[in-house]
Amino acid sequence: MGKKTKQIAIYGKGGIGKSTTTSNISAALVEAGYKVMQFGCDPKADSTNTLRGGEYIPSVLDLLRENSRVDAHDAIFQGFRGVYCVEAGGPQPGVGCAGRGIITAVQLLKQQDIFEELDLDYVIFDVLGDVVCGGFAVPVREGIAEHVFTISSADFMAIYAANNLFRGIQTYSNKGGALLGGVIANSINTDFHREIIDDFVEKTQTQVVEYVPRSLTVTQAELQGKTTIEAAPHSEQAGIYRRLAKRIAGHTESKVPSPLDAKELRAWSAGWADQLIEIERRSERLVANA
Ligand SMILES: Nc1ncnc2c1ncn2[C@@H]1O[C@H](COP(=O)(O)OP(=O)(O)O)[C@@H](O)[C@H]1O
Ligand SMILES: [Mg+2]
Repeated sequence: MGKKTKQIAIYGKGGIGKSTTTSNISAALVEAGYKVMQFGCDPKADSTNTLRGGEYIPSVLDLLRENSRVDAHDAIFQGFRGVYCVEAGGPQPGVGCAGRGIITAVQLLKQQDIFEELDLDYVIFDVLGDVVCGGFAVPVREGIAEHVFTISSADFMAIYAANNLFRGIQTYSNKGGALLGGVIANSINTDFHREIIDDFVEKTQTQVVEYVPRSLTVTQAELQGKTTIEAAPHSEQAGIYRRLAKRIAGHTESKVPSPLDAKELRAWSAGWADQLIEIERRSERLVANA
């Protein structure tokens, strides 16, 4: 038996930056000398794209549809600096449950002792979802991950999804489910974005792991089919991703968050709406007086 592999899941709503951020964390960790697998759990199966020069790989479920006996090695592809890439894939649209697909894919690798064979330090699951559909709760519920991080911007829908995830974590926490490591704040470019996220983590008794700005460097790298770590290794943004990776790698103390209930969340966001109007008025006054 090799060393223990640390299993981390990164959650968030669609389009919030999970795959971008996860791929940069994976890239930063392989660059630091760790053995890393990124395990995409989005039916889109595009999680590991920028680790492989923009190339797509067949998903575990794709392979299983072609052949019921799959050698797990056929679903594992190497990318940037040897990082291992796997995509769980999804059921055919409208048929079956995405959560089942994740279980099937993880089981295939576990049955064939892949984590031990590859002597992995980290497996990072990139998971779509806000636990509205129970299927996406799988990595939390089944103890596939030990530490969960959620990515959120300051937008209400992203915070709403994060809060739902907190509820899922709370529900499964007394049954051996994964606990929350913290919030990765993405697309944070102004003071009030930061204040909104800070207020949310305070109310839910969690913490921000890192503030990641929205940056053209990321866009450029993606257009080249690369992570920011690979395409712009000396950029400020790459430095931020490296710091984030270090914090996640070193993280040990996860806990049960305190989600807001529907009424509390409504009241909280309404309070922020009033504050934003006030912030806008203030800046207009500043311009007018200038
Ligand atoms: N910090 C950032 N700066 C610039 N663009 C970003 C940033 N984070 C995410 N994006 C962009 O947002 C889009 C969605 O990101 P993606 O990682 O695919 O989301 P998800 O995996 O959550 O669906 C991509 O085009 C990505 O390049
Ligand atoms: Mg994605």
